[in-house]
Amino acid sequence: MSTYTEDQRKVTTHRLIEMKARGEKIAMLTAYDYSMAKLIDEAGMDVILVGDSASNVMAGNITTLPMTLDQMIYHAKSVVKGVKRALVVVDLPFGSYQGNSKEALASAIRIMKESHAEAVKMEGGSEIRESVERILSAGIPVMGHLGLTPQSINKFGTYAVRAKEEAEAEKLKADALMLQEIGCFGIVLEKIPASLATEVSKSLDIPTIGIGAGGGADGQVLVMHDMLGINKGFSPRFLRRYADLSTVINDAVSHYISDVKTSDFPNEKEQY
Ligand code: KIV
Repeated sequence: MSTYTEDQRKVTTHRLIEMKARGEKIAMLTAYDYSMAKLIDEAGMDVILVGDSASNVMAGNITTLPMTLDQMIYHAKSVVKGVKRALVVVDLPFGSYQGNSKEALASAIRIMKESHAEAVKMEGGSEIRESVERILSAGIPVMGHLGLTPQSINKFGTYAVRAKEEAEAEKLKADALMLQEIGCFGIVLEKIPASLATEVSKSLDIPTIGIGAGGGADGQVLVMHDMLGINKGFSPRFLRRYADLSTVINDAVSHYISDVKTSDFPNEKEQY
């Protein structure tokens, strides 16, 4: 069991900002279904992200772009039912907020009303400012996402580290400050140089949550399937695997198949 769960109070966006202020690191992990969300929450996770990475790890797509608003709501509803303590943040999927700010607000409202999640996450900086502001003005907490923003993979053309050049780093710093100024409660920094993430984190009062952004961020996020070793085909340098569930599952399933084939299962005690 986790040693970090003494404080059983519900995690809120305000508490995350307090955690940053007192130097307590924030742990965030993705989840997409009730059972895993319940286990992750019970272990003491601070933030559970219903990521559009569901497109990759749940639906088998190559990118996050195919994910629909209805699919995100389905996953978010299942996750929320399993969570008591963690803050639940849901990704606004590609195409649900970039078009115009009214559409963005309608998408965010659907997520909040139908899933009962507590916040949304949106990829981008100045390009989506109007949409972020409109959603915030409706009382919906927004987490930003800068650096490698997977919904823009077709623009980037690669999943390589972002903001290594000065111009992109300067824009990222300006975007981070702008997101804080307009009222975001936190920002994911994905795959950027550690020195840049540290600088941005120090310049903000709101927490940064890094993925491939080094130890200077105020918290860390990983995709659950990657860190549990369910999805072994993805091994970037930033990923630490905490379990080898693909081997555990393969062994268990092979054992079951063998027991069925040899009529070992079910035995006399396992029947009525
Ligand atoms: O969709 C997702 O899982 C994410 C994380 C990688 C931050 O956005």
